[in-house]
Amino acid sequence: MKRMIIGAALVLGAFNTGAWAEGDAKAGKKVFKKCKACHTVKEGKNKVGPTLYGIVGAQAGQVDGFKYSPALLEAGLTWDAETLRAFLTKPKELVPGNKMSFAGLKKEQQIDDLIAYLVAESEE
Ligand code: HEC
Repeated sequence: MKRMIIGAALVLGAFNTGAWAEGDAKAGKKVFKKCKACHTVKEGKNKVGPTLYGIVGAQAGQVDGFKYSPALLEAGLTWDAETLRAFLTKPKELVPGNKMSFAGLKKEQQIDDLIAYLVAESEE
């Protein structure tokens, strides 16, 4: 029994850190250019889209003063590596009816890099 708990903790630990530890924040900064027209990484600074400051690990639809679509608000998502990957690959598939006009990123590495960048920017 004890062994199982330790095993589960190890797997969870690997998921929590390892999931974006593979990303390269520097490369992610370049990928973020695709988001810049609509997003900043500065706290409290919304554009067409909400600020992505502190977004990794946050609940969806929580940025103050941003008017989200009902679809995003009702999705009840938490933005971890897994949901971000799904959303950024095909935004309209994970959250049908959301108002982010973005075709989606194709390469998994780009998404890992981007997540690493978002985490790094939110730690400063
Ligand atoms: C054309 C503008 C546009 C582009 C480009 C865009 N977004 Fe968005 N994004 C939005 C809008 C608008 C919303 C709010 C969606 C809603 O309320 O339905 C949003 C929402 C989000 C959310 C959810 C935020 C929250 O608080 O729950 C994330 C995460 C996100 N975008 C990430 C990205 C990333 C990363 C990129 C670049 C790869 C990107 N977006 C590109 C407009 C854009």
